[in-house]
Amino acid sequence: MELSGRVALVTGASGEGMGRSIALTLAREGADIVVNFKQRRERAEVVAQAIEAMGRRALVHQADVADADAVQAMVAVAEKHFGRLDIAVGSAGGSWQPRDLPEIDPDHWRAVQAEEVDAAYALLRAALPGMRERGWGRIVLIGGYRADEWRAGPPEAPLDYPLGKAARHWLVRTLGPRELAHGVTVNAVAPGPIEYVTLEQARRLVEGDAEASDEPTPQDAAEAVAFLCSERASFITGAVIPVVGRKEV
Ligand SMILES: NC(=O)c1ccc[n+]([C@@H]2O[C@H](COP(=O)([O-])OP(=O)(O)OC[C@H]3O[C@@H](n4cnc5c(N)ncnc54)[C@H](OP(=O)(O)O)[C@@H]3O)[C@@H](O)[C@H]2O)c1
Repeated sequence: MELSGRVALVTGASGEGMGRSIALTLAREGADIVVNFKQRRERAEVVAQAIEAMGRRALVHQADVADADAVQAMVAVAEKHFGRLDIAVGSAGGSWQPRDLPEIDPDHWRAVQAEEVDAAYALLRAALPGMRERGWGRIVLIGGYRADEWRAGPPEAPLDYPLGKAARHWLVRTLGPRELAHGVTVNAVAPGPIEYVTLEQARRLVEGDAEASDEPTPQDAAEAVAFLCSERASFITGAVIPVVGRKEV
């Protein structure tokens, strides 16, 4: 187990997608986990129970990742509860339908940028000081495959969501090399479309006890995150790693 004794916070760990699989995978590797959610506490508690069944400690914490004060408070609670925070994974996000630009009203535009850009800023701002002080840290943001390139996409391609993902990639590429001096790496995993799985499927995938799939599952993104959080990736920083299905290439 590569992450024994580490403490990881995973935002948006209560869903059916990547956040939950990332939380379970970091727990499999030995980390204790802060399970963040926004609305569905009961789902977050089920994830925490699954983590505890693996022999790790889990703390369920409600916070809207777009609220910088709430994220700051969440990191403070995690550091107080576990004595440290070594890993922060920004996975929380909504599922946004593409809209033509004149159809994007200001509230929708702000909501997308709040969850994508403000949330990334809030997590970095809250997590970096403690990691720098301890001289070790891993931050992984979930980006989006080809978000930087979608300007060449078809007219129906979304505009607001990839802008937010591209901003995450920019933050990672800019901050990653700077933070290495503090022993902290900052990277992104950039998936293409990935289908949700049931909790049972997620558990089996984490244990490597599932049939091979032709398309990526949330576990494929989770394995990339776990690698970036390991000692093996100590000098990998500022990277945006695609996790992509064959149909997307
Ligand atoms: N699925 C894909 O095809 C795909 C492709 C590329 C990138 N991504 C990115 O991957 C990440 C995970 O998405 P996913 O599709 O796999 O679904 P997911 O992990 O099930 O994500 C939903 C989770 O995010 C939480 N959440 C949403 N808004 C939040 C907020 N403001 N504050 C705190 N938590 C919040 C939800 O909590 P509650 O349920 O409690 O509200 C839930 O736990 C997202 O950043 C998404 O943009 C997904």
